[in-house]
Amino acid sequence: MGEETTLKIQKIRNGVVIDHIPSGRALKVLKILGIDEGVTSTVSVAIHVPSRKGGWKDIVKIEDRELSDEELNRIILVAPRATINIIRDYRVVEKHRVEVPETIEGIVKCINDMCVTNKREPVRTFFTVVSKDPLRIKCVYCEAEMERDDIVENII
Ligand code: CTP
Ligand code: ZN
Repeated sequence: MGEETTLKIQKIRNGVVIDHIPSGRALKVLKILGIDEGVTSTVSVAIHVPSRKGGWKDIVKIEDRELSDEELNRIILVAPRATINIIRDYRVVEKHRVEVPETIEGIVKCINDMCVTNKREPVRTFFTVVSKDPLRIKCVYCEAEMERDDIVENII
């Protein structure tokens, strides 16, 4: 199948393309990036499109914007196999495959209400990654374990 028949959204001139997002997760990615009614970049979103590698994926394209490391670290948690493509003058000039880190500091709220990180005196959360695929993390303070869906729901 040629690109003419498979391309769902236009190529962009400059900006960032977050590709290979798990199907249905694009909205979470938009939330992480703070893209809401106040948006000032042109953003294209494709949800549940066929992936050439089989299965389905989402894609988010943001024109004239770069991602900070903080944003990238959050995106990894909802889209552990995403690729981040930097586009300049219509060409992919950089392609980063994100990688789940060994530890996660901040970013995720502990699922255990009794955890010291959820008390009034704020303690920054800290998790070790028990498994990268499927993603599973463990709080170093209360040892509560969180899996993919819990993590996605508790991104700060
Ligand atoms: N893209 C875009 N605008 C451009 C160039 C690329 O929106 N000017 C998008 C493509 O549509 C694709 C992503 O950026 O979703 C990566 O482009 P490319 O590396 O050319 O595609 P693939 O080779 O299919 O990438 P991968 O191997 O990561 O799947
Ligand atoms: Zn905890």
